[in-house]
Amino acid sequence: MTSPCATVTGAARGIGFAIARRLTRDGWRIVIADCETDRGRRAAEQLDQARFVPTDVTDETAVEALFRDLGQSEGGLDLLVNNAAIADPSNGPIESLSPAAWHQRLNTNLTSAYLCTHFAVPLLRAREGGIVNIASTRALQSEPDCEAYAAAKGGLIALTHALAVSLGPAIRVNAVSPGWIDTSASPTDANPQSEALTASDHAQHPVGRVGGVDDVAAAVAWLASADSSFMSGENLVLDGGMRRRMIYTD
Ligand code: NAI
Repeated sequence: MTSPCATVTGAARGIGFAIARRLTRDGWRIVIADCETDRGRRAAEQLDQARFVPTDVTDETAVEALFRDLGQSEGGLDLLVNNAAIADPSNGPIESLSPAAWHQRLNTNLTSAYLCTHFAVPLLRAREGGIVNIASTRALQSEPDCEAYAAAKGGLIALTHALAVSLGPAIRVNAVSPGWIDTSASPTDANPQSEALTASDHAQHPVGRVGGVDDVAAAVAWLASADSSFMSGENLVLDGGMRRRMIYTD
C-alpha cells in the first residue's frame, strides 16, 4: 500500500516545516508548497519522502497547477494543511493601514485557504481525506494594531466549521489555534537564530513554557489521524493555557 499524501503550505520554515517533518516521520509523503524557493528546496532535502513545489498561495493559477500536479504525480491527496501566512500580526495603527496592506494580509492568511480548498476538494473527496487550517489565538483575543491578522484568523475558524458541515462525512475539517510558538531556530534558515526567551516569557504560561513548533505538529498529526475521527469543525486551541489566565491588573 502506498503511503498517504499531504500538502503543507508555508512549510519552507517554522511551524509548517515542523508539521511536514512530523508527518513524514508518521509515514506520510509530503508536498511542500511555499513561495520561498531556496528555503523550500532546503526543506524538502532535509525530509524523507518530501518534494517542493514552488507556489504562491495567493495566486489562483499557481494553486490550480499545484493541485493538478498532486493529482497527476502523487495520484491523489489525503490531507491539506493550510499553514502559509504573513505570520507577523502587527499592522500598525488602523488609520495608517492601507487598503492594499489589508487585502494582502487577508489574501495571504484567509483567501489562500479558500483557494487551496477549492482546488483540493475533488482530490480529498476521492480519498476521504482531511483539512487542517492553522489559525491563531489572535482570532480570539488581541493586542493593539493587529486587526487584519485577527480578522483573517477569525475568518479561518469560521471557514473551518462552514466547510466541515458542507464537506462531511467524506472530508473532516479542523483548525489549530497556536498561541506563542518559538519559531526562531528554523533548521531550513541559512543562519538560524535562536532568540533568547526570558524566564518570564515561559513562566506566564500555565504550563510553564512558551510553545515549540513540534507542539503544533503533534496536534496536526493527531487531527490527520483516525484517532480524531469524531472531531470536525473544531478549533483546537494550543496555547499552554494562556487564554484561560485572567490578566486584569489591580
Ligand atoms: P513563518 O513566517 O516562519 O513561516 C510562514 C511560511 O509561509 C514561510 O515559509 C513563508 O515563505 C510562507 N508564505 C508566506 N506567504 C506565502 C505565500 N503567499 N505563498 C506561499 N507561502 C507563503 O510563520 P510561522 O510562525 O511558522 O507560522 C505558521 C502559521 O502559524 C501561520 O499561519 C501563522 O499565522 C500561525 N501562527 C504562528 C504563531 C507563532 O507564534 N509563530 C502563533 C499562532 C499562529
